[in-house]
This record gives sequence, C-alpha cells and structure tokens, in this order.
Amino acid sequence: MKLLEQRIIKDGKVLSNQVLKVDSFLNHQVDPQLMMEIGKEFSKRFADEGITKIVTIESSGIAPAVMTGLYMNVPVVFARKRKSLTLSEGLLTASVHSFTKNVTNEISISQNYLNKEDKVLIIDDFLANGQAALGLIQIVQQSGAQVAGIGIVIEKSFQDGAEMLKKLGYRVESLARISSLENGKVTFKGQKAEELVS
Ligand code: G4P
Repeated sequence: MKLLEQRIIKDGKVLSNQVLKVDSFLNHQVDPQLMMEIGKEFSKRFADEGITKIVTIESSGIAPAVMTGLYMNVPVVFARKRKSLTLSEGLLTASVHSFTKNVTNEISISQNYLNKEDKVLIIDDFLANGQAALGLIQIVQQSGAQVAGIGIVIEKSFQDGAEMLKKLGYRVESLARISSLENGKVTFKGQKAEELVS
C-alpha cells in the first residue's frame, strides 16, 4: 500500500536494525484518515472470505481493526492483555511471549463474542515473530470459529512471523512489508527506499 509506505518513509524512525518507531501515526498518536484507508484496503483484500468478525489485540491493533470492521460491516473484538474488572468468567485465553520485549502476557477474549459459526479476520499493527497472531489463532480455535485470514499493517519480513504463519496455512496480507532496517534506512520488499521519496 503506497500511501502507507510513503508515510513510513516520511514519519517512521529507525531505532535499530530490528525496530521501527511509528508512534506519530500508529502506535501512540493515530491518524484516522490513514486508518480509514487501511481499513478500506483490508476490506477489499478479504472481501471474498465471508468474514463475520474481526479479532485484534490491544492496544495498537484496535484502530486499524475498527476501521476494517466499519468497511466490512462486522463487529470487532480485541483481546485484553490485562484482567478486566467486569470480565472474569467464560474467558478464552492464550499465553503470548514477546521476544522483542521479553515478557509473556496472558491474553483473553470473552467466549460471548466468538462462536463456531464465525469466520474471523485477525488484524494487528505489527508482525515480527508472529507470537501475538499465534495467540489470537489459539483463542479463535478454542471458540470453534475459523480463522479466514490475517491482516497486518506493517510486516517486518526479516523476522520469522509471516513465513511461520504462511507455513501453517494461513493467508497473510501485509500492507507494508519491510525487508530491512539496516543502516538506519527502511527498505521495502522488492523496492529500494529511495524510490518512494518523490
Ligand atoms: P510478535 O507478536 O509478532 O511476535 O511481535 P513481538 O512480540 O516482537 O512484539 C511485541 C510488541 O512490540 C507488539 O506491540 C508489537 O506490535 C511491537 N513491535 C514489534 N516490532 C515492532 C517495531 O519494529 N516497531 C514498533 N513500533 N512496534 C513493534 P505491543 O507490545 O502489543 O504494543 P501495543 O499494541 O500495546 O502498542
């Protein structure tokens, strides 16, 4: 998605060979116009999958997921990373280890909002090692629902997640695919960074 790649080049900050900071439009401040275009693009790509529900994980997955839900006209459920005061029974849970942050979170979704008739589109902001996506897949499977696809805003293709999820048979659609963050520069798959600056 050209618009997103251009925005990454313009506003993204390469913090290391592994980490891209995009908190001016995705991870802290959120650009609603861009989120709308992202939602539109996911809804186009997954239009033929019969999606009945979007599942994401708090917090940065929520904005792109809600916009996708708006365009697909389906509800959006986000997995919680912390226990909720009002939500304690009938939870579907999975354990998610983040290699980036070296923490393990127990994530959960109420069983009231997923059922075996659902065809689920999983949406997340970043795909690195794929552990968050795997946790969400486990939760969807516990409910008896089907994972129809995985939509990612920014895929770091030099890490293992995308490959691993595709090997497991899932359809992964990433709107920006970063092949390298080396030398402080963002390079997209099949494209040199300089080509995007015009
Ligand atoms: P994984 O699920 O693909 O294995 O990813 P990982 O554990 O490595 O990522 C943990 C957190 O770090 C996730 O956010 C993920 O979105 C984020 N992350 C991973 N790589 C990058 C990166 O290069 N840049 C940025 N900005 N974020 C990255 P989180 O902790 O769940 O945060 P949030 O959703 O509450 O904002």
